[in-house]
Amino acid sequence: MKTHGACRPPSRFAPSLTSRVLKPSPTVGYLSEMSSTPRPTVYIETYGCQMNVADSELMYGTLAAHGYDAVDAPDGADVILVNTCAIRDHAEQRVIGRLGEMRRFMKPDSIVGVTGCMAQRLGPKLLEKARHVSLVVGPDGYRALPQLIDNARNGERGIFTTFDLEEHYEDVVPRRTDPVKAWIPVQRGCDYRCTYCIVPQTRGSERSRQLHEVVREVRQVVETGTSEIVLLGQTVNSYNDGANDFADLLRAVGAIDGVKRLRYTSPHPNDFSDRVIAAHAEVDAACEHVHLPMQSGSTRVLKRMLRRYSREEFLQCVDRLRAAVPNLVLTTDVIVGFPGESDEDFAETLTAVTAAGFSDAFTFKFSPRPGTPATRMPAEEMIADDVASERLARLIQTVRAQSREQNLSLLGSRVEILVERLARDGALLMGRTRNWKTVLVPGEASLINSYHTVELTGTTGSTFTGTFVDQHKPMRQPLPMAS
Ligand code: 5AD
Ligand code: SF4
Repeated sequence: MKTHGACRPPSRFAPSLTSRVLKPSPTVGYLSEMSSTPRPTVYIETYGCQMNVADSELMYGTLAAHGYDAVDAPDGADVILVNTCAIRDHAEQRVIGRLGEMRRFMKPDSIVGVTGCMAQRLGPKLLEKARHVSLVVGPDGYRALPQLIDNARNGERGIFTTFDLEEHYEDVVPRRTDPVKAWIPVQRGCDYRCTYCIVPQTRGSERSRQLHEVVREVRQVVETGTSEIVLLGQTVNSYNDGANDFADLLRAVGAIDGVKRLRYTSPHPNDFSDRVIAAHAEVDAACEHVHLPMQSGSTRVLKRMLRRYSREEFLQCVDRLRAAVPNLVLTTDVIVGFPGESDEDFAETLTAVTAAGFSDAFTFKFSPRPGTPATRMPAEEMIADDVASERLARLIQTVRAQSREQNLSLLGSRVEILVERLARDGALLMGRTRNWKTVLVPGEASLINSYHTVELTGTTGSTFTGTFVDQHKPMRQPLPMAS
């Protein structure tokens, strides 16, 4: 995430290639010509994190306000947008491949655009690389989409990669598709400068929404029957709107009638002030789960990552959280193979995973991102791919074993789940506990978006099977115990 080099964000006052901030108007050129023709359609394919999912909802919302209908396949859509992630090279390669495939789905007059972090990172290079792409729009440019699409219809290829520190899309009504859970961005950008990370380059400086705007949005969401709220930010617990910090935000959102489950992702360990931890502990809706990115368990590596905490400080943060929130489940992110990571450093990561008692982890091999400080570390410090792969496998094994042991100890207990959706095979329901465990239960689709008590009857090690023990007991036979 570092010094921005060639991708340095332009000042928000500098002109960009196509950079006027356009407030939505009820109709724009292309649509006004279409009064007697069917409404144009838009398909958005989303890669990467939940912030991108939330941004896609905003893009759909912006385009809906300009007369577009959302469709769930690219085939024949008038507008195809690929909302991208730049966090690892693998994510970018997938998008490049997919963009090529999109050619197959295009009508002669379809418009294809690339949005999100990769659009911000590569800008004009994307237009050079992919002739069928006619717009490239970074995370602060989504309200310009209708205009850029109109321009593209007139043969103009457009780029919008200006950062706008005031852009929170407050006037855009997102198009939400999940009735159970609402993802609410409360902060955009990041002011940390972890040496491996591209995000400060692609999403710019940190800025927080006003607390009253977040509360307004959550109230609206709750009125539609959604009771689980997930607050989103790159370092969400550093939220500060000038008058309120994250503790105030947790208390304000937790006090809204109808908010039954409150989550947030992802916090930074250094922003867990006593106030924030106390708020998490005292707000009834705040769930007993925190996703707390550790990245490494070695103080030496953490220093080189510029994470701004030591192994000991990280573990103290874990202790403070666990002391305040009984039965807290912690999950994390870990990177292996960071430049200079020795066998001893990696061994410290394994022991930290155990010391912190993580129940699950997203695990990654270090991926050098152009322009970040980690790429400028001495070549001899780069870790060979086979070494990184071997470490990754051992890390996954450690996490799995720990998770399995924890989950086996929960068998037979009764827990509340919120039923989220049909499970993948369609025959079961997928629900989640407050502490983020997945439970599969036999039941009818009508139970989606309702709360029930279940008994945990089996576990694969990572997910559970269960049976209803409340009044919604289903007619079908309970599942057999998993191994
Ligand atoms: N290489 C590997 N993993 C990375 N992450 C961020 N940047 C990189 C990178 N260059 C991981 C971190 C972060 C998660 C979202 O992605 O673990 O927490
Ligand atoms: Fe990237 Fe997170 Fe570090 Fe910000 S805090 S630079 S988003 S890893």
